[in-house]
Formats: sequence, C-alpha cells, structure tokens
Amino acid sequence: MFARIVVGTDGSDTAREAVREATQLAKQTGATLDVVSAYEPVPPSRLREERIEAPSDIEHMVNPHEDVDAMLKQAAEEIGKAGVTVRTFARQGEPADAILDVAEEENADLIVVGNKGMTGASRFLLGSVPQKVLEHARCDVLIARTITQVSTEIEKGEGGIVSVDGQKVAAYRNDDGELIAMSAKCTHLGCTVGWNSADKTWDCPCHGSRYRATGEILNGPATKPLTKTSL
Ligand code: FES
Repeated sequence: MFARIVVGTDGSDTAREAVREATQLAKQTGATLDVVSAYEPVPPSRLREERIEAPSDIEHMVNPHEDVDAMLKQAAEEIGKAGVTVRTFARQGEPADAILDVAEEENADLIVVGNKGMTGASRFLLGSVPQKVLEHARCDVLIARTITQVSTEIEKGEGGIVSVDGQKVAAYRNDDGELIAMSAKCTHLGCTVGWNSADKTWDCPCHGSRYRATGEILNGPATKPLTKTSL
C-alpha cells in the first residue's frame, strides 16, 4: 500500500479533481499527501507582449509565488477536512520537474497527476506534464482521468468517463447503440476506472482490477461488478 503520495496542482478545476482523487486514495490507504505547485514569476511586460491569458494550459507557468501559496493553503484546508495529513510545496520552475523533485526528495511511492494536456493539440504547446512525469518518475504514477467526455461523443463499441452532477460515470455504447452507464468507482477501494480501448475493458489504475465493457469482473482484487447507474 502507499505511505506517501505526491499530487501536482495548478489550481485549475481539472487539477482540483486530481487532488480530490489523491485525497480519496490517501484516506483509503492511510498515506500522507504532499501537494506540489510550480510558479514562474513572469514580468508583466512579457505577459502583455505575449498576450498570455489565463486560464490556459500555461497558467501554471505564470502564477506568482503568492498566488501559489494561497492556492496551496486552500487545497491543504480541504484535504485536512478529509482527515488526511497534508504538506504543501511551492517550487519555482517547470511543473513536471517540481513534482518529480518533491517525489524523489520525500521518497514518495505514488504520484497522482491529472490527464490534462495528454490529448489534443495542447500537449504540443509546452509538453505534457503528465507525460513527462510518467516518463521520469521513479515510483508509481496514477494519471487521474480528470477530463471527461460527453456521452453523445461515445461511438458504438467504445467507452468513456462522463461527469453527471459531479459524479463520474463509466459509459459504454454497445453495438446496438445503447448506452450502458455504470459508476466509475472501482468496487475494490473506489479508484476511478479508465477505458481501455485496445481491450475494450475498464481498468483500475490502483491495484489492477479489470472489468468487461458492461461492468462484469475480469480480474480482481475487486470481486463485484461495476454498479449500474443511469445518465
Ligand atoms: Fe483497488 Fe481498483 S481500487 S483495484
């Protein structure tokens, strides 16, 4: 099990979702949580010249130190309310380096990052934080699926995570076009499952449970199928 978990945030909604997942995991495993954010003071003249506007994939690069401190303080309060021991780290520089450095210094056994920046053109803008963390980390990495889809975009024979009233739903469209909705919570310890389009399965990143597209168990440690729900 995990004793020390590191999570990265830039204060965006999707990063907060990753922090929520990390908090949930820390609570379930009794781990302590280290929250990392990077700041890179940029002179206002450069902001104007380059027309950098937040929010964007580069907002974390222009957060002044004080903003990062305030954001980390707020995150720590929320995590503390869940009964999890938390520490915060504001580091100057590139976000992926900040996360990797803290993970190494603190001997983390898991890093949690959101999947923002892994899809679409934004990944080529500054390089993807989750991708870099995944490539260079010396411990396990959990990519929290913080970007969800809309159910109408899910093609026949495909699945995706849809957000309904703040809850994550694993939605699979069968070959007849019917949408099958299940809770995205793994029935082992509650991590969020992800769609594996190669094998057409739902896979849990935490301890390897796997479910059929329609939710039945393929591999444990989970013993119960995904819970059916509605959209
Ligand atoms: Fe343990 Fe999913 S939470 S396998």
